[in-house]
Amino acid sequence: MIEPLDYQIRVFRDDLYPFLGGGNKGRKIKFIEQAVIDNNCNALVTTGGIQSNHCRAVAVLAAQNRWICTLVLHGSEEEFRQSTGNALIIRLSGANIIFSAPESIAFAMDKALDDFKQSGSEPYYIWGGGHTMEGGLAYIEAVRELKEYAEDASWYPDYIFHASGTGSTQAGILAGLDKYQVDAKVIGISVARTRSRAEEVVQQFYEELSDRYKIDRRENDVIVLDDYLCGGYERYDEGLLKLSKDSIKNFGFTLDTTYSGKAFYGMKDYIQKNNIRGNVLFWHTGGIFNFLSQQP
Ligand SMILES: Cc1ncc(COP(=O)(O)O)c(C=O)c1O
Repeated sequence: MIEPLDYQIRVFRDDLYPFLGGGNKGRKIKFIEQAVIDNNCNALVTTGGIQSNHCRAVAVLAAQNRWICTLVLHGSEEEFRQSTGNALIIRLSGANIIFSAPESIAFAMDKALDDFKQSGSEPYYIWGGGHTMEGGLAYIEAVRELKEYAEDASWYPDYIFHASGTGSTQAGILAGLDKYQVDAKVIGISVARTRSRAEEVVQQFYEELSDRYKIDRRENDVIVLDDYLCGGYERYDEGLLKLSKDSIKNFGFTLDTTYSGKAFYGMKDYIQKNNIRGNVLFWHTGGIFNFLSQQP
């Protein structure tokens, strides 16, 4: 699960999480699955972009359980029909696909829920990105795995770097560090949001998670860097593109330009500029399908 990269940086291989396409959305969806079962539901509704890891995870979960599923997608329908990566998996999953303009997503989701109810199904609504209590819990419990590894290997991380989007992975890790009493500084690398917005959302969700799961909050610092956005979501510069293209050759795993590559790029720069010492954990949150659908 966690493999040494060199004497200083080790990698938590959530890109290999055992679910089609793996990654943090795979890990989250397995916890969300339990909530769907507990609520006696048999239909899923969610939303995301055409290369959304979350939508792919929801579509695959539905297929695994023989649940029906509607995905409200935003982006170019034409591109979706032609793209590989998550778009291909979603197309082949059997999910109903609805395209919506960003401003009509809520309406389209409500309609999908109503349609399922009308036809006698029990739908379950999943927030985009798997930004739910259960999604956060998946990461609280992932820290237990990290702690087990740390104890076995006598290797405790001083820093944890990872890609941060909706913020539930980061908030879950922060609450998990409290629950399992692991001391490490978590540095999220924003893939889309500005620093102030991202930190506000992570802080709020960290508080909500620790309240909900009755964890004594130790008020870990919430740090999300926006220095590596390269202009925004799915954008990259030459340096990031090179890191991504060389990732298999250099590390033996993929680093896509949207998520994990951006985080790795930011981590490398941050370590250098801040003269970081000690044990660094790179939490690889996946993105192999994003890598596979990138421009060659
Ligand atoms: C591969 C990958 N890594 C990281 C993230 C960010 O995770 P979170 O939304 O929990 O912040 C995402 C979100 O889309 C993702 O798909």
